[in-house]
Parts: sequence; C-alpha cells; structure tokens
Amino acid sequence: MTDNEHEIEQADERVPKRVIGTPAPGTSMLGAAEAPEAAEEDVPGVTLQDEAKARKAERIVALCFTITFLASIAFIVSYVYFQVGSPEATGTSNLALGSSLTIAILGLAVGIVIWVRQIMPKYSLVQERHPMASAEEDREVVGETFLRGANESGFVKRKLLRRTLLLAAAPLGLVPLVLLRDLDNSKMPGAKFNSMLRHTVWGEKTKEGKPLRLVVEGTGQPIRAADFNSPGGILSVVPEGYQHDLNALAKATLILIKFRPEEIKSGVRQNWTHDGIVAYSKICTHVGCPAALYEQNTHHILCPCHQSTFDAADGAKVIFGPAARPLPQLPITVDAEGYLIAQGDFEVPVGPSYWERGDAEAEVREKGGQA
Ligand code: FES
Repeated sequence: MTDNEHEIEQADERVPKRVIGTPAPGTSMLGAAEAPEAAEEDVPGVTLQDEAKARKAERIVALCFTITFLASIAFIVSYVYFQVGSPEATGTSNLALGSSLTIAILGLAVGIVIWVRQIMPKYSLVQERHPMASAEEDREVVGETFLRGANESGFVKRKLLRRTLLLAAAPLGLVPLVLLRDLDNSKMPGAKFNSMLRHTVWGEKTKEGKPLRLVVEGTGQPIRAADFNSPGGILSVVPEGYQHDLNALAKATLILIKFRPEEIKSGVRQNWTHDGIVAYSKICTHVGCPAALYEQNTHHILCPCHQSTFDAADGAKVIFGPAARPLPQLPITVDAEGYLIAQGDFEVPVGPSYWERGDAEAEVREKGGQA
C-alpha cells in the first residue's frame, strides 16, 4: 500500500455516516451533524421541549407511522384481494380501499402534527417595528425641494399665470355636479331633466296626436292584435317612428307575449293587456341587458347576462337571479283598426335600479300602481 492510498483511507473514516431521510453531510444547509448541537444551545426565543414529554410523543408518533404502514399494506392487499364485478363486490372493494387509505393518510397526518408540536422546539418570533416618520433631514430636503420647484415654476411670482390657472380649474370642479343631473335626481335643481331616465317615448303621441303603435323590431311592421294569436308567441317590439332612434330604443324596447287567458296570474295588470297579449320592458332591471330569452312552457323570461329569471305570466316577477324588481309592464290596447298601441308610458322607470328609485316607486305605490 502506498502513502497516498493510506491518506485516502483516513479521509474516508472522518466522513460522518449518512442517515436515510437527512441531507448529505457537508451541504451548505444546516447539516445533519450540526443540528443536534444547535438545538441544544440556549437560543433566545427558542424553547426546547421537555425531554420526557418528547420521548413519550416520539412513541406516539412512531405508533402513528406504524399504523400508516399497516394500513398502506392493507390497501395494497385489498386491491388485489377484493375484485370488482358485481355491485356488491364493488361496494366491498371500495369500502376496503377507502377505509385503509383513510387510516393510512390519517396516521401520517396525526404523526406529523404531534412531531411538530411536541418534539420540535417552539419559536417565539418577534418582528421589530420601525418609526414610520421620515428622518428630520429628509423632511427638510423635501420641503426645500418643494419651495425651490414652486419658485422655479413662477407660480408665486407670475400672478397672471396663477390666477388664470385657478380660474380654469374652478369650473372643472363643478363638472361632476353637472353630470349628476343626468341621474334623474328630483331633489336637485333643474327638475326638468328628471324625465331623462324616468320616462320613455311610449308616453308621446304621433304628429296627428294619436298614441304610438307597437311595431316589430327590425321590420317596423305594425302588429294587428288579431294576427298575433298563437299562445306562447313572443315578439320584440319598438315604438313606431323611433325604429332608428337608438336613445329612445335603449329604454323603450319591449317584449310582447301572447297568453291563454287562464295562464295569466294576478301579478299582471289585466287592464293593461289586450286579449291575452302582455307587453314588458325588454331592459333587464339588473344592469340593463336585453332580457329576451323566453321559455314557452314555464313562461320564464331569462336575461342571458346574469341569469335573472322573470315569470312573464305573473307580472314578470323575479324568480331567480340578481335583478331586484319585475320587468315593468307597458299598458297596451288596440286602435280603431285593431293595431296594438300604447295606452301611455310605463308607470315605473325601466332598466337598472338606481339610487333615488325609492322615491319614484313609493310615489307609484301610493297611487296603487305597479311597484
Ligand atoms: S343584466 Fe340581466 S341579469 Fe344582469
């Protein structure tokens, strides 16, 4: 044997033995060989477990892991032994597999929890809080920078610039107030704007002073009540003369449904219908999508946006979804030629609810109208 070979043998003897399940000796992390010494030291904030209790816990953890081992073996045996083929055999197999796997996972989980809580040291962690305020020098620097910037901008020195800038900014502050008027707030000055959301063109008349006819959306064809006679039928309808007025259509589009008389329930205002034909606003009362999916058998109107569902046979009451109130019903009748016409405007605002709606609806309820 040479000298070199002798040196190599000595080096091998100094290497600690590798323990299964631990990091290799000599790694940069806390090595297995270093850990026990570190744990024994009196480190601030670290409380070692009582050794007697830790030993008892160790035995319990070992028992849990043994149970896991046995249950895992039972799982494999069950898989092989209990064959499926009939409902009874499948049930027995499922029971055996499920129970053994449950016990195996439970044993492992309980063992790990006891290990961590009763054997490993406890740490008290404290995070230091630092003062939030900036240092005095930093605040002085910021103040000086601000003043220097103000002087350089000429805001103080150039009065003309300063005054015209303030003049320009003042009306901008009022812009949000002006926009609020569009929200139909009856308590704000300028109540003439209130009609913008509360009313639709159905309350208007033709040039000849006649009520507006209902016409089919797309074709503009007026609807004769006698022709719309098959129960379960539905039409999308707009006011005559406004077929191309998108602002008007945004609030005035309707769905027209034909019922058998016995199908109509108490929620429908009967004197607003004609021969089983009922008209509802098509604008969903949630956030305003067109609610035009109709299920003939159940009489449900469905809004595709968030699935609000309305019972068309019962005043379009909400039966599902986020909408908070029924689709408003439009009073309709027929003119001398038998065409469907509006008796007047909706009694309640159409479309999404908004913040001052309470006033409008209370007013209608007092009058005994639909709310
Ligand atoms: S807009 Fe109709 S459910 Fe939301």
